[in-house]
Amino acid sequence: MISHLLTSHTQKIETSLVRELLHYSQQPDVLSLAGGLPDEKYMPAYPSLDVLADSRQYGPSEGEIRLREQVVSIVADRGLSTVADDVLITTGSQQGLDIISRLILDGDSTILTEQPTYLAACQVFSLQGATIHDVASDAQGMSLEALRQAIDAHHPKALYLIPNFQNPAGHCYSLQRRREIAALLDEKGILLIEDDPYRDLCYEQVDLTPICSLLKTAPWLYLGSFSKVLWPGVRTGYSVSCPAFSPYLVKVKQAIDLHTNRLGQEMVSYFLSSGGFPAHLVTLKEVYKHKRDVMAQALSSELGDLVTFALPAGGMFFWLRLPDGVSSTLVLEEALRENVLVLPGVPFFPSESPLKDSFLRLSFARVSLDDINKAVAVLAGVIKRLLTK
Ligand SMILES: Cc1ncc(COP(=O)(O)O)c(C=O)c1O
Repeated sequence: MISHLLTSHTQKIETSLVRELLHYSQQPDVLSLAGGLPDEKYMPAYPSLDVLADSRQYGPSEGEIRLREQVVSIVADRGLSTVADDVLITTGSQQGLDIISRLILDGDSTILTEQPTYLAACQVFSLQGATIHDVASDAQGMSLEALRQAIDAHHPKALYLIPNFQNPAGHCYSLQRRREIAALLDEKGILLIEDDPYRDLCYEQVDLTPICSLLKTAPWLYLGSFSKVLWPGVRTGYSVSCPAFSPYLVKVKQAIDLHTNRLGQEMVSYFLSSGGFPAHLVTLKEVYKHKRDVMAQALSSELGDLVTFALPAGGMFFWLRLPDGVSSTLVLEEALRENVLVLPGVPFFPSESPLKDSFLRLSFARVSLDDINKAVAVLAGVIKRLLTK
């Protein structure tokens, strides 16, 4: 009835399967491996209002200066040198994706992503009417040859990458791949959008050098978030950009929501300055690493050679390749009958791929150890039953 009011892009927008499934995960009898949600048992308590600066008034569009300076020092530790003027505090890193998309993408633009990639980024890019081309990726990250070919074929405006513990595939780029990609982007002058929300959840010795820090001339935007390590409900993230982008990013941010919620910024900033953050990260890494290992063990002992997966070196996800002929969508339906929620890989493929329906993304972060074992046992039963059908 209102479809004539919608733009050509909003008419096409699809709802996110993840958000649709979230309501099942809130039912008490459902064991969910579906969402990318952190475990609230390990979220710090909110600081008392008494210790926070007054945040009742409107604030700066760029974000609170203290938090921006804290971000400067956080990203400096990662090898990315910047100044507070080039930091924008955003309403989660999702808003960073929205802001950069509004700035650079329209119906004539093309953006390249990994295959598979974060589905909510694709939603944002599509909302601007952009064309998305996904590029073959392996355990080391995006294939350099495939990237070169895609750049030459599609003349993209930007490349969107999640180099560390990717959502959904869990891969982490080798240093060599990071260097090669940076050199190619410099050669071609393509903007890099580097999305890095999982890097602090690191369980092995791997290289985490921001690819943005390796660029010499190509423009770049680096997105970070406090969602996976503090309080996702507080919606605090940030972008760091090459200086030329900063004034434009602030103008778009102003047009969207004036500024990010000040109380949330104060809470994050206070927690960072309290000195407890490093110890908090140590705890998170211990807890999640243990859950990861329990899930790996359960998958191996329940399903053996029927499925394939790589042990993720960090983050929250296993990317499970199902046996040939078993559809991930059917696994979702059948497992839900037994109160286990899993996420089919389908929506993570922006373009058609014969493998689209062959993967599940399984998150180990929020479930208890017992529930990991129970859920994987149910899942294994479903997969084995479907195999014999
Ligand atoms: C790769 C990636 N980027 C961005 C986001 C959005 O995170 P935020 O809560 O900071 O908006 C997520 C959340 O799952 C994600 O996985």
